[in-house]
Amino acid sequence: MTGVGICSAMALYNLFRPFAFALEAEAAHRATIGALKLMPRRRLPTFPASLASEVAGLRFPSPVGLAAGFDKDGEVPDAMLSLGFGFVEVGTLTPRPQQGNPRPRLFRLAEDEAVINRMGFNNGGQASALARLARRRRQGIVGVNIGANKDSGDRIADYAAGVAAMAPVADYLTVNISSPNTPGLRNLQAGGELVELLAAIAEARPSGGPPVFLKVAPDLEAGDHDRIVRAAIDAGIDALIVANTTLSRPPLRSRFAGEAGGLSGAPLKPLAQDALRAFRSATGGALPLIAAGGIGSVDDAWDRIVAGASLVQLYSALVYHGPGLARRIADGLAARLAERGLRNIADAVGSG
Ligand SMILES: Cc1cc2nc3c(=O)[nH]c(=O)nc-3n(C[C@H](O)[C@H](O)[C@H](O)COP(=O)(O)O)c2cc1C
Repeated sequence: MTGVGICSAMALYNLFRPFAFALEAEAAHRATIGALKLMPRRRLPTFPASLASEVAGLRFPSPVGLAAGFDKDGEVPDAMLSLGFGFVEVGTLTPRPQQGNPRPRLFRLAEDEAVINRMGFNNGGQASALARLARRRRQGIVGVNIGANKDSGDRIADYAAGVAAMAPVADYLTVNISSPNTPGLRNLQAGGELVELLAAIAEARPSGGPPVFLKVAPDLEAGDHDRIVRAAIDAGIDALIVANTTLSRPPLRSRFAGEAGGLSGAPLKPLAQDALRAFRSATGGALPLIAAGGIGSVDDAWDRIVAGASLVQLYSALVYHGPGLARRIADGLAARLAERGLRNIADAVGSG
């Protein structure tokens, strides 16, 4: 999409926003996906050359991506790319379709610029997403985030099956073991289970297949970071995504503060930044890091990049700032590189 195209998308969003906020949060999300499906197909936007970098063998035109959970079923990846995201992650997709938790399960905490969700991996399953993604013309970077069914008897087998099934349509795969809304799922981050899971994934990966990223929680204890990094490197994981939503509750003002689920958006920022720093010191730069959690401005994205993130992802800030945000952050990052006399975004990674 051209600059003008993105501007008109923004103008449309400004018109649409009051209606979206009048709707219950999940209904507003469905309406947004519906509107995006109607968007005419456009060429991918171009970005300043200084923003292009190679991470895990892939060339990212901009480091600002869409985090998982917005487009769970892979219905609108091309629309989101055309709105100015440098890459889009669809999912989480589980092997079999599942309904997720009872509604309401998604809450806007407007006073806090935050979201609480306990969706519970509602999705149409990998087979239908596979067919949908196989029909699209491959352009831009689209990652596929995979998970385990809630009622699965063998969660590790679910991940192995997901890697094998979704590899043909994925530019990268994300193994999501950090959602707080599937009881016990985060236990896969623990020592023995993690090693077993990563071994199963290594075996399931097709040779010549896409890189595999591991998405972790921000709620980890000292010592966990080193252990996770060692296991990931040993198993050939290509990057870590730091982080998912938090179960903790920093001070919040909204009446929805007491809702159960994962918290994201602005209040997650300090926690996610701390987790990123801990992972950077654990990796020493040996494993690429992708930052997520409370990123809503150029400053936020820049802070993560200089703290060691090669790429950033966002979701919750879109609810409050609209789909033009990714492009605005990308342009702001390019301006910052120019101000600092840096030729490429990769030169800023870990420079802080
Ligand atoms: C409504 C909602 C649904 C989400 N669903 C998923 C998901 O299915 N899989 C996943 O890995 N992360 C999911 N996330 C987490 C985001 O990908 C991201 O890690 C987190 O929200 C922090 O980024 P943010 O503060 O920019 O939203 C979800 C987040 C929200 C708000």
